[in-house]
Amino acid sequence: FPVRLTLDPAFRVGPVRRRTFGSFVEHLGRCVYTGIHDPGHPTADADGFRKDVLELTRELGVSTVRYPGGNFVSGYRWEDGVGPVEQRPTRLDLAWHSLEPNTVGVDEFMRWAALAEVEPMMAVNLGTRGVQEALDLLDYCNGTAPTYWADQRRANGATDPYAIKMWCLGNEMDGPWQIGSKTAHEYGRLAAETGRAMKMVDPTLELVACGSSGVVMPTFGEWERIVLSEAYEQVDYVSAHAYYWEEDGDLGSFLASATDMDHFVESVTATADAVRAHKKVSKRIHISFDEWNVWYQKRAESRPPTGDDWPVAPVLLEDRYNVADAVVVGNLLISLLRHTDRVHAASLAQLVNVIAPIMTEPGGRSWKQTIFHPFAQASRYAAGDVLQVAIDAPTYETARYGDAALVDAVATRDPETGATTLFAVNRSLTEPALLEVDTRALPGLRVLDASTLSNPDHTWAATADDDTSVAPRANTTAEIRDGRLTVQVPPVSWNVVRLG
Ligand code: AHR
Repeated sequence: FPVRLTLDPAFRVGPVRRRTFGSFVEHLGRCVYTGIHDPGHPTADADGFRKDVLELTRELGVSTVRYPGGNFVSGYRWEDGVGPVEQRPTRLDLAWHSLEPNTVGVDEFMRWAALAEVEPMMAVNLGTRGVQEALDLLDYCNGTAPTYWADQRRANGATDPYAIKMWCLGNEMDGPWQIGSKTAHEYGRLAAETGRAMKMVDPTLELVACGSSGVVMPTFGEWERIVLSEAYEQVDYVSAHAYYWEEDGDLGSFLASATDMDHFVESVTATADAVRAHKKVSKRIHISFDEWNVWYQKRAESRPPTGDDWPVAPVLLEDRYNVADAVVVGNLLISLLRHTDRVHAASLAQLVNVIAPIMTEPGGRSWKQTIFHPFAQASRYAAGDVLQVAIDAPTYETARYGDAALVDAVATRDPETGATTLFAVNRSLTEPALLEVDTRALPGLRVLDASTLSNPDHTWAATADDDTSVAPRANTTAEIRDGRLTVQVPPVSWNVVRLG
């Protein structure tokens, strides 16, 4: 079926932000232990960090990494993770019913972040803790004066302050599952006071208040309104979290998940702007979409251990992703990019083993899941400005979201080099689409290359033995004539066309 698209530099939404391509490392399952950290692995460095995972992290093109949680942070004592490793206490991690040995803490993570070439995004515990402990962690990490905590950091080997810019004020405090969860009023006050004190130390910090854990939360909308009414002056971002999965075989709805993300972003933006109008201020609050992905939450491996079973680094949330999952991840990236005017940061949850693009075997191989590819391509090729794409596509009916377009797309264009990239998904389960793209507003473009990720069997999933037989492949149908690009894209596919 034919689909008409129009690219025009006048459709600029805002700049491509590197922070859109963030990810997340939580002390959860095997993300840290046997994920990024595996001292017995042949590639491990002196700290125990796997070099193969570092290499894959750089290849993925991750910009920021949120740490150390997640639900974990709401019961975490950061002091347990600093100083001589052999003196660190082992604690119960109530969030994931696991044992936390504290072998990796703030200093190790910061050394890993430097090797991975990522910007850290640190979360403070506002579940069981409060203003003072957040200030202590801030002083430990960023302190320049000769204070007790900054001196402890120096004694632990980090002479220079870490200068961490982005800080999350707690995690999912609206969720009844969260340790120390709060009402919007309780949390809004705590976020305001924690943020106010942190900015007394450094007014240039960028602070993220917890928004809703999902659009389906009963408090969604009202939570953002109350929290921002309390903490508008102190924070810069409100967070958003969303996970999607195919339910009861309804692939059509699943493939349209990005329409839900669009709705989430637009609703939070409207709410933040309503608070702004009410407060009569010019400052705008931006969105940190700091947890998003496909996550099959109902599968057994998402359930933490119970009873007397308190394992270290159990197998948890190790979803195996198929081709359709990768198409949805690509489409969610399209949604994040087209909202670059308000989404200023985002984190694919998570990075390694736990609902992750990168998988590891303890002491053994590491490999790429299907969702690795759309993320790596978007991070590598999105540059310059984000352009909204005008799309005239047929629609299909979905059980969850009503009518949805069969094709979704966004483009980026570097005004300096003219490099232009079209990212597009075909959500049709059965039909190829012929994209007819009017590029006459961008004269002189040629096709540099085009690639497609798809497979006749969209349930194909990578394994440690085979993570290459389905990957983005050259799409030889792309051509430009008289300013009109045409490209044929198969059903259930993620596509990247680079023009220059
Ligand atoms: O990413 C997995 C979990 O999902 C996080 O710990 C939590 O914040 C969210 O509910």
